[in-house]
Amino acid sequence: MENTIDTIYDRRSVRKYTDKDVNPDLVDEILRAGMFAPSGCNKQPWEFVVFNERQIIDEIKDMHPYASALATAPVCIMVCGDTQREMAKGFYQVDCSAAIENMLLAARALGLDTCWMGVYPWEEVMQNFSKRFELPEHIEPFALISLGYAQSRQERPKRYDSTRIHYNKW
Ligand SMILES: Cc1cc2nc3c(=O)[nH]c(=O)nc-3n(C[C@H](O)[C@H](O)[C@H](O)COP(=O)(O)O)c2cc1C
Repeated sequence: MENTIDTIYDRRSVRKYTDKDVNPDLVDEILRAGMFAPSGCNKQPWEFVVFNERQIIDEIKDMHPYASALATAPVCIMVCGDTQREMAKGFYQVDCSAAIENMLLAARALGLDTCWMGVYPWEEVMQNFSKRFELPEHIEPFALISLGYAQSRQERPKRYDSTRIHYNKW
């Protein structure tokens, strides 16, 4: 397993996967990593729906305008926010984002790759997911994560930009 800093730099959004299945224990480890994220007042206002059947993943792909990653991904995780459990309105989105980033990094550390596909704040897409999966009123679909073994991986991009950093004043 590479060190944490390398894992952060090596994570890329991957949209094409091999047909190798993902061991359920690894999926569980990734979900565990999500649940270890920080959250406002430690409310942990997240829920996860794991899809590992081709037919339903294909259906989900067709419900989202930018989900090409799901065409080959053997696993898709829908991350949902709980409006009854969040610290205050607007917090679940921040908390779920922290959970997702933990999951993307955990996946990379385990040799897997991912792509984060936003559902929130697209009202129409959110409504379609809520309806299709019969989510309770207080559970809102937030994002999808594709998970699998990459067909190929990109080099680390150059992103560090010292002009975006401000010390002690703007
Ligand atoms: C909130 C959010 C929404 C995103 N939505 C999509 C999406 O709908 N489809 C997709 O293919 N990638 C999506 N991405 C992935 C971004 O395109 C990707 O992170 C960005 O291009 C940077 O590339 P990298 O992840 O390889 O560093 C999303 C990322 C974030 C954080």
